[in-house]
Amino acid sequence: MPKVVVVYLSTSGNTKAMADAIAEGVASRNVDVSVVSFHEAKMEDIKSADSIAIGSSTFHYKMLPPMGKFIDSLAKANVKGKTGAAFGSYGWSGEAPVMIAEKMRALGMKVIDPVLRIQYQPAEKDLEECKRLGKDIANEVKKKYTKPGSNPKHEPISPHEVKMGEGGH
Ligand SMILES: Cc1cc2nc3c(=O)[nH]c(=O)nc-3n(C[C@H](O)[C@H](O)[C@H](O)COP(=O)(O)O)c2cc1C
Repeated sequence: MPKVVVVYLSTSGNTKAMADAIAEGVASRNVDVSVVSFHEAKMEDIKSADSIAIGSSTFHYKMLPPMGKFIDSLAKANVKGKTGAAFGSYGWSGEAPVMIAEKMRALGMKVIDPVLRIQYQPAEKDLEECKRLGKDIANEVKKKYTKPGSNPKHEPISPHEVKMGEGGH
């Protein structure tokens, strides 16, 4: 049974709302999913997951240092080859999700491109975009459990990135 873990850092709930919507998308494809704040994430859950989605909002043009340390610590969880996805809410520059994806790639993970960034509080259309990413993650992990020679129907990976609104650059 494929399993996905969604880990987030969120100071005022914006990235958490994204994490919950991504998980909803994963669950809608009948894939087991859990959502957890990064400081409550358990290494054994990360180890047993087929895919890890990690989200962080951007502060002072980067992710907060504890999140960076958490991702670096995943080297011990043998995440090489697992599917990764990066996301996060931002205000004006939005570097954190890009940095998360870079760290995931450095760990040998297969990262879904592009990262998903939403400006400030996600609107309904943004949450739909998050659900879409969740469905794409589910489709990716299901591939691993498909017997060679069978002919599964997989929906194509969609472009996730939400365009920066006014004030973005
Ligand atoms: C002190 C502070 C610094 C911030 N620095 C940045 C920044 O450098 N770039 C950016 O895009 N957003 C920045 N933001 C905006 C947050 O990323 C944004 O409010 C985001 O929606 C917070 O999401 P969260 O509730 O998931 O933490 C900053 C916000 C605060 C309060």
